[in-house]
Amino acid sequence: MEHQIDFLVIGSGIAGLSFALKAAEHGTVAVVTKKKTIETSTNYAQGGIASVFGADDSFDLHMQDTLNAGDGLCHPEVVEMVVKSGPGSIANLLQMGVDFNRRDSAPETLDLGREGGHSRHRIVHAHDMTGRAVEEILVARANEHSNIAIHENHLLLDLIVQHRSLKAGAFSLDHRDTCRGAFILDSETGEIHVFRAHVVLLCTGGAGKVYLYTSNPDVATGDGLAVAYRAGAQLANLEFVQFHPTCLYHPITKNFLISEAVRGEGARLIDKRGRAFMAGYHPLKDLAFRDIVARAIDTEMKKSGDDCVFLDITHRDGAFVRKRFPNIYEKCLSLGIDITKEPIPVVPAAHYMCGGIVTDRQGKTNIEGLLALGECACTGLHGANRLASNSLLEAMVFAQEAALYCGENIKALRRRELQEIPACDRVPPPAAEQANGEMVLIAHNWDIIRRIMWNYVGIVRTDKRLKLAQNHIAQIRNEVREHMPHIPLSTDLVELQNLALVAELIIMCALQRKESRGLHHNLDHPHKDDEHFGRDTLVPGGHTEDFLCVMTGRMSFDP
Ligand code: SIN
Repeated sequence: MEHQIDFLVIGSGIAGLSFALKAAEHGTVAVVTKKKTIETSTNYAQGGIASVFGADDSFDLHMQDTLNAGDGLCHPEVVEMVVKSGPGSIANLLQMGVDFNRRDSAPETLDLGREGGHSRHRIVHAHDMTGRAVEEILVARANEHSNIAIHENHLLLDLIVQHRSLKAGAFSLDHRDTCRGAFILDSETGEIHVFRAHVVLLCTGGAGKVYLYTSNPDVATGDGLAVAYRAGAQLANLEFVQFHPTCLYHPITKNFLISEAVRGEGARLIDKRGRAFMAGYHPLKDLAFRDIVARAIDTEMKKSGDDCVFLDITHRDGAFVRKRFPNIYEKCLSLGIDITKEPIPVVPAAHYMCGGIVTDRQGKTNIEGLLALGECACTGLHGANRLASNSLLEAMVFAQEAALYCGENIKALRRRELQEIPACDRVPPPAAEQANGEMVLIAHNWDIIRRIMWNYVGIVRTDKRLKLAQNHIAQIRNEVREHMPHIPLSTDLVELQNLALVAELIIMCALQRKESRGLHHNLDHPHKDDEHFGRDTLVPGGHTEDFLCVMTGRMSFDP
């Protein structure tokens, strides 16, 4: 089936839907999402949105905190743009009906939380379910809009890119290649659809599932990164994977975050014996930057051999804790942990990808007609470590800038002819029962990749472990290439290929950075080296013989 629209948005989190709502004023929009619309990382964001509202706060302070967290790699002009757009973006959400918490004593004033690395209270929040409060409103508005069509259970396979030059390995910033649309798998019918569009936006979120332990939902498999790379988009800084210090440690639950806002309200990290240990690592103690807290926990666990550490907020009034953190309170209680009476067992887990697809200040990539927003993008805001609660803000600000660009250029964009697109030439895969039981390859390789990444490319790295990981992942990628054409196309299969590629790219970036900075800590290069590494790690796209590219005929027809 063929669809033709002005704007194709891949992903239905805060970035995708914020853009869709604005772009729908200028043309038709299709939002494609691989599960249900609401099933996004945004929906799981607990803490909130950082923005300057406090009487004791200023844009300069928020900018400085962001730059300090980023450890020398933030792009200052982007930091300034995002921070200064914060209050306007929050006002926009309030106007749409998002119900942020107010102060009990002054109901007209937003209640501001605090998180690691922030020198002031500036986290606008809806209890401990901020992402859900925002996502629900955005989904409702998008569903109401006559110019927006949402396609659930539709998975991005590959972009359709018209290459003007096929020189292998060449990269330049002039817009040489043009994105014309995408091949999308309807995972319910198995049909491959062609979506032709004047502009394609990748808003596919992160890649936390590449690690064994993650706070991310199951959809976070790095699809946008992998697809963009295959299409020739430039990526950067993939070594900077943020590990959230405090995910719930419990045998029957996975991925449940204990928000940093809990430490913002005074919770302390303690070991099994009740010893508070953060004072030994940083003067800001439990509110130090996330990379420092995660590494401290990792060190404590390695020293003691314990499976977890604990987060203790029992000294705060129980009624306050229940009201401020209703979601965390209820979830823990359902597992037999009353957080008002006992410390919460926690471990670090992969949480956020600070690198991604390189964009300019309007979300544009090096491929004409291809934009990237949100966690899958690398805008220059986060540098080597993202400041807590800056990500929803970034997504909103860049969605606004991208929509402005599209609105101003829609006539020119529409003049670009939407050419005939060659049909997808994938050889029909065998039926599941004919795959000779080889479906096990998918589950096995998923598991292996995630374990290798956790053990060898985690919070603390060494050259040896990175090289071992590189060899293992290369073998898996070969196996995937060899066997996948004979396995029926499915979401798991596509995600496996994407995860394997993203794992390879993370390792490639980590091996290049022979220093320790922000989230990248390598014991063989324990110091920061501004002279050689005070810059982004750039990855030119397009060096892959992956199956999906072959499947879609590489789409390299000349103009
Ligand atoms: C949290 O609530 O701790 C997560 C906030 C964030 O990742 O920005």
